[in-house]
Amino acid sequence: MCGIIGFVGADGTRALDVLLTGLSGLEYRGYDSAGIAVADDEIQVLKRQGEVSSLEEALEEQPLGTEALGIGHTRWSTHGPPSDRNAHPHTDTDSRVAVVHNGIIQNYQSLRTELTEGGVTFESETDTEVVPHLIARELDDGLDHETAFRAAIDRLEGSYAIAAVFKGSDTVYAARHESPLVLGIGDDGHYLASDVPAFIEYTDRVIYLEDGEFARLSADQIEITDEHGESVEYTVTEIEWDAEDAGKSGYDHYMLKEINEQPAAIRECLRGRLNELTGRVELEELEEISFDGPVTFVACGTSYHAARFGVTLLNRWGVDARAMLASEFTGDSVPLTQDSLVIGVTQSGETADTMRALREANREGATTLAVTNVVGSSAARVCDHVMYIRAGPEIGVAATKTFASQQAALTMVAAVLADHRSRELIQSLREVANGIQQVLDDTTARSIAEVYRDARAYFFIGRQLHYPVALEGALKLKEISYKHAEGFAAGELKHGPLALVGPDTPVFALVTGDGKQAEKTIGNVKEVEARGVPVVAITDGLSDIERYADYVLEVPALEEVGSAIVANVQLQLVSYWIANELGRSIDKPRHLAKSVTVE
Ligand code: G6P
Repeated sequence: MCGIIGFVGADGTRALDVLLTGLSGLEYRGYDSAGIAVADDEIQVLKRQGEVSSLEEALEEQPLGTEALGIGHTRWSTHGPPSDRNAHPHTDTDSRVAVVHNGIIQNYQSLRTELTEGGVTFESETDTEVVPHLIARELDDGLDHETAFRAAIDRLEGSYAIAAVFKGSDTVYAARHESPLVLGIGDDGHYLASDVPAFIEYTDRVIYLEDGEFARLSADQIEITDEHGESVEYTVTEIEWDAEDAGKSGYDHYMLKEINEQPAAIRECLRGRLNELTGRVELEELEEISFDGPVTFVACGTSYHAARFGVTLLNRWGVDARAMLASEFTGDSVPLTQDSLVIGVTQSGETADTMRALREANREGATTLAVTNVVGSSAARVCDHVMYIRAGPEIGVAATKTFASQQAALTMVAAVLADHRSRELIQSLREVANGIQQVLDDTTARSIAEVYRDARAYFFIGRQLHYPVALEGALKLKEISYKHAEGFAAGELKHGPLALVGPDTPVFALVTGDGKQAEKTIGNVKEVEARGVPVVAITDGLSDIERYADYVLEVPALEEVGSAIVANVQLQLVSYWIANELGRSIDKPRHLAKSVTVE
């Protein structure tokens, strides 16, 4: 959700390159407009509605006159529609300071009124524009750049990662509160960004800024201070992946690349965590956790589906658990005590709804665990415990490999919390990576996408562990194809949604194994088929579902957990190829962003 980048280099010649590369690496956070500001004796700003490529075209026609240092922004609109004027950076009236911001300034309306009454004219509808005007007012009162910046930040309520450059200064200033900000230490300059992919091409040595901290970046120095201005000692973290991992590696889309990375991601997620001999999952991250009471998961979007997967397993293994949409979680929505365990499932570790829920759980005294992909993310730092899913960087807005890794990770978390030991389960998890590879080698999903690309709507049904997979299958399809898609518990179809089905609404049915659950879902499929509705079965061939299906997407026969992880990959491929057939913007679907840092 909005990406910010900043750079100050030693030789004064690389700012534009670095800023544009950085913005491209951050576009997954928002892509309705982009802009940059560079500074030396003057501040020059260029911004455009549209993707970073529009800004690049504008730069060719209108080159900026300095490469000394600068800041950049890629936007996901919250206040005011996408437009050149609402794009960041924003400046004060005299262009003495330029500012980029990610987050929401809650009290911007009262600040805007105060500034307007003081004679300021606003150029945009954004909440952000109050910041440069506040800074300018402090400069007018004679404060130096840093003191003016700090004084302005002090007036803000809400969430922000903010960076600013000043006319006639060789320093970039930044502050963070509840929005991510990471600094990069290069050999030839210093970087700041909302996320590491923005500058991984230049350096892998990073510092994660904490809430309430300020940073001052010059070509040869980084200084971090707390809210009182006291110097803070920082830790430098080395990133374990590189620019190639964050690139497309020859695939047309990040999404397709990330779908194909799932076997490796799953192996990495499981590495060192399974004990075949004892049938136990061993997670040292969970060793110190004690709880006595229900487990509450909080999560959004795809992560919420993964959480439901975890809940199904915990319940099955005797632990009371529930999953809540993080945006619906409040201190009094579920009873929490000091014995409760709250698990935040979040790929990015930055989702505002999930972060708020986790902070609230902390306040209630519950034990908190983050299950996340991003090392050093806000969730990882706010929670008492953290387990990393180790999926590697995911850039495509639609979550794919992180969902598979969350399913595997939460299976392990559930096994540990429930003290569930099973060699079959360990074996099944071990077989997932190869199972996914088999699905990836199969081209049927692509053919099915060609057949059903123009359907009116799509329904996904599944039972038990396949139910969250059905929900996820529908979410994936609607995110990237913009077609109507819904997921249902197979048994619920007849309680209402059946009224929606027809010859132009294919039903994708997840049926693996040959047990009771499979039998029941086949019953639901028959109800659909009897009404002339096309059926696509995702099956391991152990039941007779094929008799009732128009098409079959095969998955290898695994134990139930493994089947549910692998079956989802067929649905990812169907979504990808339908969206591809329809010519959609697969990696950057309209209106969406990967990391949503507003509630
Ligand atoms: C956004 C993304 C979704 C994602 C959700 C939760 O809405 O578009 O793809 O599932 O956020 O993200 P998280 O990083 O918390 O898993």
